[in-house]
Amino acid sequence: MEKVKLNNGVEMPWVGLGVFRIEDNKEAERVVETALSVGYRHIDTAMYYLNEEAVGKAIRKSGIPREEIFVTTKMWNDDQRSGKVKEAFDASMKRLDIDYIDLYLIHWPVEGKFIETWKKFEEIYATGKVKAIGVSNFKAHHLEALAKESKITPAVNQIELHPYLIQEDDLNYCKKAGIRTGAWSQFAANQTGLLDEKILTGLAGKYSKSPAQIILRWNYQRGVVTIPKSANEKRMAENLNIFDFSLTDEDIKAINSLNKNMRIGPDPDHVDF
Ligand SMILES: NC(=O)c1ccc[n+]([C@@H]2O[C@H](COP(=O)([O-])OP(=O)(O)OC[C@H]3O[C@@H](n4cnc5c(N)ncnc54)[C@H](OP(=O)(O)O)[C@@H]3O)[C@@H](O)[C@H]2O)c1
Repeated sequence: MEKVKLNNGVEMPWVGLGVFRIEDNKEAERVVETALSVGYRHIDTAMYYLNEEAVGKAIRKSGIPREEIFVTTKMWNDDQRSGKVKEAFDASMKRLDIDYIDLYLIHWPVEGKFIETWKKFEEIYATGKVKAIGVSNFKAHHLEALAKESKITPAVNQIELHPYLIQEDDLNYCKKAGIRTGAWSQFAANQTGLLDEKILTGLAGKYSKSPAQIILRWNYQRGVVTIPKSANEKRMAENLNIFDFSLTDEDIKAINSLNKNMRIGPDPDHVDF
């Protein structure tokens, strides 16, 4: 698995497995075990997904050395509002039970709270229990506000990003700031007909790949880490198999032309959940 170096030197696999909406812990455990067996070494969970225990259990059962697996988890909004950041981190550590966390993210920029949360993240980072800290769903203006009042630049900003929402401006902002962008819902959660778009099916035919693989490759060539969710072994393997072909600049422009600034998830300027 190819890896990207984050701004503090920590290496993160370019493709990971997302486990959102797999709340049944037996199923989550099966999915993570299967993913590890087909070659995944990067799992993206969150307190909010209610499956950290299952993720940790599958990792421990796999027998794969801990340092070979990259685990991301995220702190939920209520814990920012209550100010119980360290307690939330300790609870995630306990549920995962895997010695350390590779990447800990602020899940959403809760207005009036995210800067003080980040300061506590910096203290958690100093303990060594987490290898990198980052944010999720931050727009450029949130990152600018954070930069003014903090010491550590986030290693990652994980945002909704797919061909209907290509996020060119925020991506460029993060590139300049040394923040690695990660995409969530890179297939627009397969709810919008994105994978049937002619531009994507055409490129899939040209390269003997699937539309999903075209999207993952487009992200990789734009410098974006992906975490596709799949509970299906065949599709999991398919989503890892994107490193043996290359899109042209014209292909990338054609995919970019699908942009319609369409979100399937909430707008980070209105975090009222
Ligand atoms: N930070 C945040 O706020 C945030 C928000 C949302 C999500 N996330 C993270 O991002 C991950 C991915 O996002 P997502 O779960 O919303 O959606 P997604 O990865 O865009 O799409 C998942 C859907 O695509 C299907 N799929 C997977 N691989 C496929 C393939 N090769 N061909 C066709 N269909 C395929 C899956 O079905 P099967 O399972 O049947 O394969 C599932 O229905 C989440 O699991 C989570 O870890 C983060």
